[in-house]
Amino acid sequence: MKIKKQSFGTLADGTPIALYTLVNAQGMMATITNYGGAIVSLTAPDRHGNFGDVVLGFDTLEEYVDHSPYFGCIIGRFGNRIANGRFTLDGVEYVLAQNDGQNHLHGGRKGFDKRVWTPRALEAPDGPALVLTYTSPDGEEGYPGTLAVTVAYTLTDDNALAIDYTATTDKKTVVNLTNHSYFNLSAGAAETILDHELFINAETFTPVDGTLIPTGEIRPVGGTPLDFRTLTPIGARINMDDAQLKFGGGYDHNWVLNGEPGELRLAARVYEPTSGRVMEVHTTEPAIQFYAGNFLPPSLKGKGGRVYVWRGGFCLETQHYPDSPNKPHFPSTELEPGQVYRTTTIYKFLAE
Ligand code: BGC
Repeated sequence: MKIKKQSFGTLADGTPIALYTLVNAQGMMATITNYGGAIVSLTAPDRHGNFGDVVLGFDTLEEYVDHSPYFGCIIGRFGNRIANGRFTLDGVEYVLAQNDGQNHLHGGRKGFDKRVWTPRALEAPDGPALVLTYTSPDGEEGYPGTLAVTVAYTLTDDNALAIDYTATTDKKTVVNLTNHSYFNLSAGAAETILDHELFINAETFTPVDGTLIPTGEIRPVGGTPLDFRTLTPIGARINMDDAQLKFGGGYDHNWVLNGEPGELRLAARVYEPTSGRVMEVHTTEPAIQFYAGNFLPPSLKGKGGRVYVWRGGFCLETQHYPDSPNKPHFPSTELEPGQVYRTTTIYKFLAE
């Protein structure tokens, strides 16, 4: 059996939460909970074939409920920020939670990361899969429309975790779903991610203001510390005296990906020199947020007695641009009844 189910405890209201472990033919494992759809652990082989856990997470459900910085979870309805927690659709203004200073972040106070998803494990043609569904009622967290969401995780035999997102609505709304895994490809050997080398398949990014809302400009990466068109250590320029880096406390920006949105293409590649592990991110999304863990605390107790430090993990969140509902010239995040929101992101692991 390539899928194992165990208990991950119960919520305060008695709801039981499960943990599913998917195993592929190579022995790679993905452990996922239906609380927030979080990827709790993900093993990948180093250059000697040794598997190590490459994502940050917690041992217990309580820690996910209590104080998770969005470790591994599904983000929705709207990943990233919406300025002032407000947007207008067909002349109606919708007011959302201002849960990040004045702005709205990652779906609000109780986003998809804090919801209980209905799980269904199955042996899909491509490998073991966990299909999670959640129906978000009309008005939840201030968003219009009943949104029916499916997120399917499939662990394929080429050591890739594929995430397929679909959603439908009964009323015009906005949607921007992503996954918030924090990676450290050293699997615990390196405290920070600063020596990881990063490539981002993008010529431009969306500069932000001091509250991390895009100004609306699309700026070339050339000549800036955000140029990752060739493999560059994350730490090489992260502390440079640069206004954009100052706003994010380091990298926390949206890169506009090359190629056609809707087509699966390479978005980013990360290489960890000591282990030789490589992670490729492929997506159909138009953009990606690279976040260097700048808002992680100096020390956070994680899995198996491990202590996570500031910048101890990075996120590569495939997405539409932040604040799209208020920026008509950005690719649209609107979803209408009868349409199907459909995106795919693949995290693929190799070693060199
Ligand atoms: C954002 C950060 C934010 C973090 C919260 C990231 O996706 O880009 O600005 O602080 O999520 O964990």
